[in-house]
Amino acid sequence: MSGKEDISISVIKRLPRYYRFLQSLKENGIVRISSKELAARMGLTASQIRHDFNCFGGFGQQGYGYNVPELHSKIGEILCVNTEIKTILIGAGNLGKAVTNKIFSKKSGFKLIGIFDKNEALCGNMIKGIPVRNINYLENFCIDNSPICAVTCIPSTDMREITDLLVKVGIKSFWNFSTYDIAMEHPDVLVENVHLTDSLLTLGYLTNTSLNESED
Ligand code: NAI
Repeated sequence: MSGKEDISISVIKRLPRYYRFLQSLKENGIVRISSKELAARMGLTASQIRHDFNCFGGFGQQGYGYNVPELHSKIGEILCVNTEIKTILIGAGNLGKAVTNKIFSKKSGFKLIGIFDKNEALCGNMIKGIPVRNINYLENFCIDNSPICAVTCIPSTDMREITDLLVKVGIKSFWNFSTYDIAMEHPDVLVENVHLTDSLLTLGYLTNTSLNESED
């Protein structure tokens, strides 16, 4: 088994997908699966799956395959889904609301403890039982509650000021939906950027390429 620091980021990035597939197998009452069958369902190869799981010590048994609930729970442990990293969200607009309602309602290892917006009209509204607070209270809230992670759902134009403040009050990781490049200014924090448009542009390229090929 490799040390955690030796495991490549591409293996780590595949774990959520394994977790999701296993969750669905578990919900469908499937208790046991071979690496071959799991690979076929996921569009991977069995050796890729064995290689990925071997990074964590390997979970299967020769001749048995994998126990689905056990594997699901072990991958969940690796992804730390049972921890509750204290998280705040900035920007209670369309995206912020959707992220709160649709993502933070599921077990992810993150616990949303505060939502902030600069629009006074939104302050006091409840989203998933959490009050939207005025952004003016951000600094004091962070000092009192020590959140570790911030989700940024505000326009890039406002990001610099907010990010500088968040880093100053101890935020260590960002789930960033804006196009602002946090890592440029703050190379020491963790940043996971999410850009749905990038995914759509990739699909556009692939769709157009395949249409052009079929015309040739
Ligand atoms: P929205 O206009 O519905 O909400 C933005 C909210 O941020 C507003 O409530 C506004 O008052 C608040 N806000 C702005 N500056 C602030 C500040 N300094 N402090 C606290 N709150 C502040 O916009 P929406 O649709 O929710 O999008 C938010 C941002 O996310 C936009 O910049 C948009 O470009 C981006 N976006 C990114 C996506 C992605 O895939 N990464 C997808 C959709 C939107």
